Amino acid sequence: MVQTEATRMTAESPSQGTTLFLIGMRVTRPWRPLSWLSVMIEMPPMLWHLRRHRDAGMLASRMYFGGSILVVSYWRSGEDLRRFAADTSAPHLPAWRRYSKRLADRNRVGIWHETYVIGEHETIYAGMPPWGLAEAVGHRPIGPTQATAQRRLAASRTTPAQADAHQAL
Ligand code: HEM
Repeated sequence: MVQTEATRMTAESPSQGTTLFLIGMRVTRPWRPLSWLSVMIEMPPMLWHLRRHRDAGMLASRMYFGGSILVVSYWRSGEDLRRFAADTSAPHLPAWRRYSKRLADRNRVGIWHETYVIGEHETIYAGMPPWGLAEAVGHRPIGPTQATAQRRLAASRTTPAQADAHQAL
C-alpha cells in the first residue's frame, strides 16, 4: 500500500531554476484513432526513458487521463528540459519529427505544453504520499509559522533561490 502522511506537509524549497513542465494532448477527430493513438503511445516510453536516465533532469512526473491527457513533470532546470527535447539519443526528437511530418497542420490531434520556472509558490499535502513538487524535491511537516497559505507564499519569497534571483536582477 502507498504510504501516506496524515500530518500536513509542505514541499522543501526547490533549488533556483526548478521547472514545472505541463504537456498534454487532445483528440480533435475521435474517428481518426490512428492519428491520436500514434501520439498517445509516444508518451509512456518517453517517461520511462526519463525515469531510467535521471541525469536528464526530470525529477518527478505523473500522467493524468480525463477529457484529455495531461503529464505534470518537474525538472531540475529549463536547460535540462530543452536538452532532452533536442537530444539525438533520446526518444523525443524522433517523436517530434514524426509528428511534424505526419500530423502537424492536419487538425486531428492537438498537443500543448507550458513551462514555468518555479518562483513564488505555496504547497500543502494532507493524507498524501509524496506528490507534485514534494515528490520532486522532498517535503517536511508544516510548522506553526507556516500554517496558512499566505505565510507559505511569503516564505517562498525569502528562500535562497528567491534571494539569488533578486540579487541577479
Ligand atoms: C516527457 C514528454 C515530453 C517532453 C518533456 C517534451 C518536451 C518538449 C520541449 C521542451 C519542447 C520545446 C523544444 C524547443 O522548442 O526547444 C517540445 C517540443 C515539441 N514536442 Fe515535446 N515533449 C514531450 C513529449 C512529446 C510528445 C509525446 C510529442 C508528440 C509526439 C511531442 C511533440 C513535440 C513537438 C511536435 C514539438 C514542437 C512544437 C512546436 O514548436 O511547434 N513531445 N517538447
